[in-house]
Amino acid sequence: MKIIVAGTGFVGLTHAAVCSEYGHEVYAYDVDTKRIAAYKSAEREQIEHYVNEPGLAEIIAENIDRYLFFTTDVASIIEGTDAIFMCLPTPPKANGSTDLSYYTDATHHLAGLLAKRQDQRRVVMINKSTVPVGTARMLETILKEHNVPNIGIASNPEFLPEGDAVERSRRPDRIVVGADSEADFSIMRRIYSQFVNHVRIRYIETTPETAEAIKYVANTLLLTYISFWNGVGARLGETFPNVRMEDLKRGVTSDNRISTWGSYVSNGAGGSCFGKDIQSLIFQLKTAGQPADLLQSVYNINEYQKTYLIDRAISEAGVSFNHKSVALLGLSFKQRTNDMRDSSSLKVVESLLARGVREIRAYDPLAIHEAKRYFSPENNHLFEKISYHESVKEALQGTDMLFISTDWEEFRGLSRTIEQNVQPPYLVIDGRRMIPDYQELTTRGFGYIAVGSPYYAPVGTAPETEAAVSAQ
Ligand SMILES: NC(=O)c1ccc[n+]([C@@H]2O[C@H](COP(=O)([O-])OP(=O)(O)OC[C@H]3O[C@@H](n4cnc5c(N)ncnc54)[C@H](O)[C@@H]3O)[C@@H](O)[C@H]2O)c1
Repeated sequence: MKIIVAGTGFVGLTHAAVCSEYGHEVYAYDVDTKRIAAYKSAEREQIEHYVNEPGLAEIIAENIDRYLFFTTDVASIIEGTDAIFMCLPTPPKANGSTDLSYYTDATHHLAGLLAKRQDQRRVVMINKSTVPVGTARMLETILKEHNVPNIGIASNPEFLPEGDAVERSRRPDRIVVGADSEADFSIMRRIYSQFVNHVRIRYIETTPETAEAIKYVANTLLLTYISFWNGVGARLGETFPNVRMEDLKRGVTSDNRISTWGSYVSNGAGGSCFGKDIQSLIFQLKTAGQPADLLQSVYNINEYQKTYLIDRAISEAGVSFNHKSVALLGLSFKQRTNDMRDSSSLKVVESLLARGVREIRAYDPLAIHEAKRYFSPENNHLFEKISYHESVKEALQGTDMLFISTDWEEFRGLSRTIEQNVQPPYLVIDGRRMIPDYQELTTRGFGYIAVGSPYYAPVGTAPETEAAVSAQ
């Protein structure tokens, strides 16, 4: 099959690369010339500057100029195309609705070219981005306006998780295809031939609208489950002495109807999808006159989680952040990615700076480059207070407290490193419950506060507020 992938971000680049592995002739197209030049170089460092996913650079190096081609000139590749996957940004607007301008611009452009193509073979234009219910229909209207012959529309939402994008694209749980005609389903089956009739992977054919809805329901359900643990599990662990989060989680998720995935408690879920998709679904329902209270609560709980530990540090541990030096471990929204979109660390930095910290000493194994873009002093002079470091040890130097924001494996069980590099009085604020042996710390004079636990004051020190509970 000859496939065009429009938009080569996380979704588009991964999809293009994995499709090329199946022997399709894949043309990955983007308007960003620097991005395309980086991919064309096939050099790992250049590719990972844009999309840092394990295994992706290798697939590109293997298939480039054989099955995988990169271009900014879509007009030159339009002839003979079977399918165009739209992998474009769908960012949220201020009111929560989805900005579809990238979609409409690209569709008008492509429709103009498709209308003039010489060959008359059937083409399917496929939404892979997460788009509001009814967007495929909107695409159809644009294609009709341009009198594009022999064209169909389909919705084929993407479910890949960042950090594991390649593996999960090669072995997805399901492929969902929404289309209107057998001709279009048939093209889609040829593209995904290795997944049709697969013993484990579910291949689901439905209407475009259902496919669009499946993506929103799946994402908001995942965030609802995460927020249930944050909004209920964490609150129980923080309120009632001797409620142990890890045991609570094991006890509840031993029921095989209840997922272990998402049963952790944290300083909020970030990433490019959860926040934007739930806001979009709330908007879609409200616009249709439907209540969306459950989803609104889920969104609010998730936002609350991002910085509430800073407030707890003040109210329970009695600390002041003014003029303090804070080590910040983790900038990406989760481990194994450099992506900082909607990361909790953005809110943590904002909150720390607003509370007058003297400096933030940040470390992340992958996201420093991204962070420098987000925290450019040109946008806000307060970002000058952020310095970037090469290791946990270096970030800790001279700090008064530590905030752990991302669940990178190398942040797990850091009590010894902390003890060896900083002196009490010192407060560890743990947004990911990465220090199971926190008692080691408290017996050596450190304070510890985590999502899902009460404040543990240094042993032998009276708690500074009534709410605080000593580790003794
Ligand atoms: N990132 C994820 O983990 C993930 C997972 C599932 C679904 N999605 C959805 O997939 C969509 C894309 O997400 P992403 O993270 O890949 O976005 P992204 O921002 O990383 O990439 C989008 C790309 O589209 C390009 N682009 C913009 N306008 C264009 C045009 N007119 N023609 C060609 N290219 C154009 C941009 O230059 C950019 O490279 C979104 O709707 C997102 O919600 C994302």
